[in-house]
Amino acid sequence: NQTRVDRIEALVRTVPDFPRPGIVFRDITPLMADPVGLGETIDELVDRIPRPVDVVAGVDSRGFLFGAPIAVRLGIGFVPIRKPGKLPAPVYEESFDLEYGSSSLSIHQDALEPGQRVLLIDDLLATGGTLGAAARLVLREGAVLAHTETVLELKDLGGREHLAAQGVDSFSSLLAF
Ligand code: PRP
Ligand code: MG
Repeated sequence: NQTRVDRIEALVRTVPDFPRPGIVFRDITPLMADPVGLGETIDELVDRIPRPVDVVAGVDSRGFLFGAPIAVRLGIGFVPIRKPGKLPAPVYEESFDLEYGSSSLSIHQDALEPGQRVLLIDDLLATGGTLGAAARLVLREGAVLAHTETVLELKDLGGREHLAAQGVDSFSSLLAF
């Protein structure tokens, strides 16, 4: 008798040696394609998320897949945190380290209001570089980072510790590998 989380986990495909030899890729495309799986994933995330929250911030691009439906379900707005050069109005920008080099994320300066309780959503926590930068953007707005949630977490990469070290104290993931 499978639980909802078991059914969700069964729809995540494991692809060895992608994008490079030795890396095990956790692929959500079968979960997205399943007629029931995506809905159950949103249901599960919505049930887990601590309340109250005022707005969802989702990370470009796979965080949008989960963040926007969660915002609809909670009856609150959605704010995109985007890769560089995509947002048209004035932005804040935060850089983070990649394995080779660095990248950045940006948010519209007027996207959040001071004191708003933000729910930060992405598909995956790996090293935590992405969500760390996203968290800093939320704080630069003067907003409150109420909770951060992902569908997947790769435990060996230390992302949770990276986030905790920069003060992200409410984090959870639906599935940990
Ligand atoms: C992936 C994933 C997370 C991030 C996690 O995004 O969707 O956002 O990496 O890695 P980290 O914890 O080591 O930062 P990616 O940059 O591949 O882009 P995408 O979401 O547009 O596919
Ligand atoms: Mg991403």
